[in-house]
Amino acid sequence: LKANYLGRIAEAGDEAALEELRLAALGKKGEVSLKMRELGKMSPEQRQTAGPALNALKSEIDSALKAKKAALADAALDERLRAEWLDVTLPGRPRRMGTVHPVSQVTDELTAIFADMGFAVAEGPQIETDWYNFDALNIPPEHPARQEHDTFFMARAEGDDRPPHVLRTHTSPVQIRAMAAQGAPIRVIAPGRVYRMDMDQTHAPMFHQVEGLAIDRDLSMANLKWVLEEFFSAFFGTHVKTRFRASHFPFTEPSAEVDIQCSWEGGQVKVGEGDGWLEVLGSGMVHPKVLQSAGVDPDQWQGFAFGMGIDRIAMLKYGIPDLRAFFDSDLRWLRHYGFQS
Ligand code: PHE
Repeated sequence: LKANYLGRIAEAGDEAALEELRLAALGKKGEVSLKMRELGKMSPEQRQTAGPALNALKSEIDSALKAKKAALADAALDERLRAEWLDVTLPGRPRRMGTVHPVSQVTDELTAIFADMGFAVAEGPQIETDWYNFDALNIPPEHPARQEHDTFFMARAEGDDRPPHVLRTHTSPVQIRAMAAQGAPIRVIAPGRVYRMDMDQTHAPMFHQVEGLAIDRDLSMANLKWVLEEFFSAFFGTHVKTRFRASHFPFTEPSAEVDIQCSWEGGQVKVGEGDGWLEVLGSGMVHPKVLQSAGVDPDQWQGFAFGMGIDRIAMLKYGIPDLRAFFDSDLRWLRHYGFQS
């Protein structure tokens, strides 16, 4: 009996088989239990030898069952460990993540620099009426400046003979909107998209400008120059000299185009050193007619405005030769310049 059960327990393949063996041996009607019951019919002498022997057999089978059960559990665990083996020392697989576009990064940077000088951010629509884009800025319908702007006109429904809306050709219309909304004094910048029919290495039909506007009692070109030099030095991280050249814009008087100091070596432009100059913006004292268009009294208020190409200064800061690449969304290009992970 003993050899039979111990042998079968050793061969049992799973817990169910073990349970079957337990019932067969030690269950109510199990073989060992039945034998135990027979003890009662035995003579005391027989019982004295058979009793301890049966008890020993019972506990031997019992512990064999327990040991086998533990061994099966161990084996199952080993099997799982083998199957679910995982090398936690392997390096992780890198996942590419999107990042902020370089033009947006530069916009954030310049917004922070101007914020330090007290300029808030103003906004206007990219689809403008021609009044905001031109008339209010002292560019009447027959003014030659309208042609120079290579304007995109929105199509009009047939029979609608109101002047067409335009894609704004510069951020200057935001000057009018901001002054009309807030009055004077005012200090704002207006970064955003602008549109002109133009396309080559340094021009795209859509590009970005940041407008600056400061109106107060006695602002002058000297304040403008200080603000711009302060801005460029902070933006390029080195002191940058500026050069003002007399120019003409219908909405400023006097007007100046501003160049920043740079060196050219082997096709590489470096800002803030050398004796070269690079044009980066238009500016001037806001024309009295522009103040009037926006409901600001030119007898009491005066100030300066400027308009700068954001993409242009981003190209300079990061040494990027072709403007159009900014808008190709080519990940290889973005990675090359460190704009993508
Ligand atoms: N709006 C002008 C342009 O796009 C730039 C400018 C802005 C000039 C403000 C003077 C004052 O060229």
